[in-house]
Amino acid sequence: MPGTVSILGAGAMGSALATPFRTAGWNVHLWGTWLDDHLLDACRAGRPHPRTGVVLADGTRLFASDQLDDALDGADLAVVAVASVGVREVVRRALAGISRTRALLLTSKGFAPDEHGRVRLLPDAMRDLAAEHGISLPPIVAVGGPCKADEVAASRWTAAVFGCTDLGTALDTVKAVATDAYRAEVTADEAGVEICAAMKNVYAITLGIADGLGERRKEPHHDLKAASFAQAVRELVVLTRLVGGDPQTATGLAGVGDLEVTGLSGRNKIFGVRIGRGEPAGNALDAMTAAEQTVEGVPAARLARTLVDQHDRAVWSRLPLFTAILDVLDSCEDPAARIADAVLPTV
Ligand SMILES: NC(=O)c1ccc[n+]([C@@H]2O[C@H](COP(=O)([O-])OP(=O)(O)OC[C@H]3O[C@@H](n4cnc5c(N)ncnc54)[C@H](O)[C@@H]3O)[C@@H](O)[C@H]2O)c1
Repeated sequence: MPGTVSILGAGAMGSALATPFRTAGWNVHLWGTWLDDHLLDACRAGRPHPRTGVVLADGTRLFASDQLDDALDGADLAVVAVASVGVREVVRRALAGISRTRALLLTSKGFAPDEHGRVRLLPDAMRDLAAEHGISLPPIVAVGGPCKADEVAASRWTAAVFGCTDLGTALDTVKAVATDAYRAEVTADEAGVEICAAMKNVYAITLGIADGLGERRKEPHHDLKAASFAQAVRELVVLTRLVGGDPQTATGLAGVGDLEVTGLSGRNKIFGVRIGRGEPAGNALDAMTAAEQTVEGVPAARLARTLVDQHDRAVWSRLPLFTAILDVLDSCEDPAARIADAVLPTV
């Protein structure tokens, strides 16, 4: 199907996706938000993208924040690749253009609170927003799985998962985007892909805490990290079921796969490392925010607390690690001990 794809958000992931799309023969329009001017400047100058360290795919057309309509002109596909906090505003501005596309890919990972305090998965929030404006969106394809932006940008092998309730659209999109390096499997489990994408950022914080503890004590805590990983997977299964998803989504690329890559590197893991080294969670978060490093797992954890309460408070007894992370974020005295208490078998 190659035609024109408009990627909204010129951060790490938005710019990275230009690589597979260009390789697969697409015209790529990359639109930067009002926060992305410096990123577009670097790309225009032919320098590596500041967030990925990789030069933007050749032939990608760049659009500044005041050129949104031009960026969406004639688009067959749109991709929303902004941080979760910006999804509603960017989608609101882009509604008319997006509504004319065949499918809307979503790489953002997180949740969206509505004005009544309810917490929604991002695709549901986007459809609600469109409906409020009398617009219907094309099928939404939730993009999950272990995909690091710098590796996607550099054409390293990557297995994604595309989740769309319209399986035909997911299949068509996968075929049209696949390259030798970037491939995706499909599932109809949009909700499962979304909850895993958002929650693995939360659980990756605990994997970082074990690594940071190892640095502080100068001895590895790999056993704690592995126990946390296994418990995180169990809880991803519980949460996936909670939103009506398929447990296999949690044990596949979207859950286990993405948790593995997020626990190896990335901002959520680094935030955990800082806590494990002994820095209070609030201080670590402030320092990272000041350095423009959004730790999406923190707002995701707080919003997911409400999401769980909305669905079924009875499942809290099966979420000891998630409960422990919330305690850590609320500044508990000994974060590593709190995590250990949650993941080690009870005596
Ligand atoms: N980096 C990765 O490897 C990776 C992989 C898979 C998915 N993702 C997801 O993709 C999304 C973007 O991540 P990224 O790594 O490109 O982040 P980034 O920080 O490099 O870029 C963030 C993007 O979101 C926009 N943005 C941030 N705050 C905003 C706001 N308040 N209003 C409007 N726009 C705002 C920025 O302008 C920028 O375009 C995130 O949800 C992330 O979880 C990232």
